[in-house]
Amino acid sequence: MKDDQIIIDDLIFEKYIQENDVYQRNVELSKELNDFYKDKNPLVIGVLNGCIYFMMDILNLCDFDYSVDFIRAKSYKGMESTKLNIEYFSDKKLIENKYILIVEDIIDSGKTISNIYKKLSTCKPKNIKIISLLSKVESVDEIDIDWCGFKIENKYVIGYGLDYNNLFRNLKDIYKLNEEEK
Ligand code: IMP
Ligand code: MG
Repeated sequence: MKDDQIIIDDLIFEKYIQENDVYQRNVELSKELNDFYKDKNPLVIGVLNGCIYFMMDILNLCDFDYSVDFIRAKSYKGMESTKLNIEYFSDKKLIENKYILIVEDIIDSGKTISNIYKKLSTCKPKNIKIISLLSKVESVDEIDIDWCGFKIENKYVIGYGLDYNNLFRNLKDIYKLNEEEK
C-alpha cells in the first residue's frame, strides 16, 4: 500500500487535498468570518459527526466571541444515501434572534443542509449562514453556501472528519475515491 493511498473493501482512495492546503484555506475563511461576525456573537452549530475537526480548527483561528452547539444528521450508510435523521441537542429558544452559523463537513446533494436550514429558520434566528469544508454543488434549493473551503468533483471523500462507515475521520489529509483503478 502506497503512502498516498488507502485501500478498504476493494476500494482505493488516493490523496486529494493536503493538510497544509486545508490549513491555508482555513486561515482565509477565518478572516472572512472575523469580518462578518465581529460584535455579532453568533451561535455556531456544528453538524455531527463530520464537522468536528474543521469546526475546531476554524474557530481556533477566529477572534470574535461565539457560543457553540451541535446537531446530529445521519444520512449515509457506507456510500449510499439513506433516510435523513436530524437530532437536536439545544433548547431551540437559544436560536431566537441570534446570528447562526451552521458548520458542515461536506455538501453533496444538499438534502441535509436544506433540511437543517429550513428547520432552524422556523426558530426565528436573526440570520443564518452556512460554512462547509467541501461542496459538490454551489447552491441547493435556493440556499447559498456562504463560505466553502473547496468545491470538489463528485467523488466520495474521506479524512479530516469525513468517514467511510465511521472510519478514517482521523486522517490529516483528504482522500478521494479512485474509481478507475481496481
Ligand atoms: P447531502 O445531504 O447529500 O448533501 O449529504 C450530506 C452529508 O452526507 C454530509 O454531511 C456527510 O456527512 C455525508 N457525505 C456526503 N458526501 C460524502 C463524502 O464524499 N464523504 C463522506 N461523507 C459524505
Ligand atoms: Mg456532515
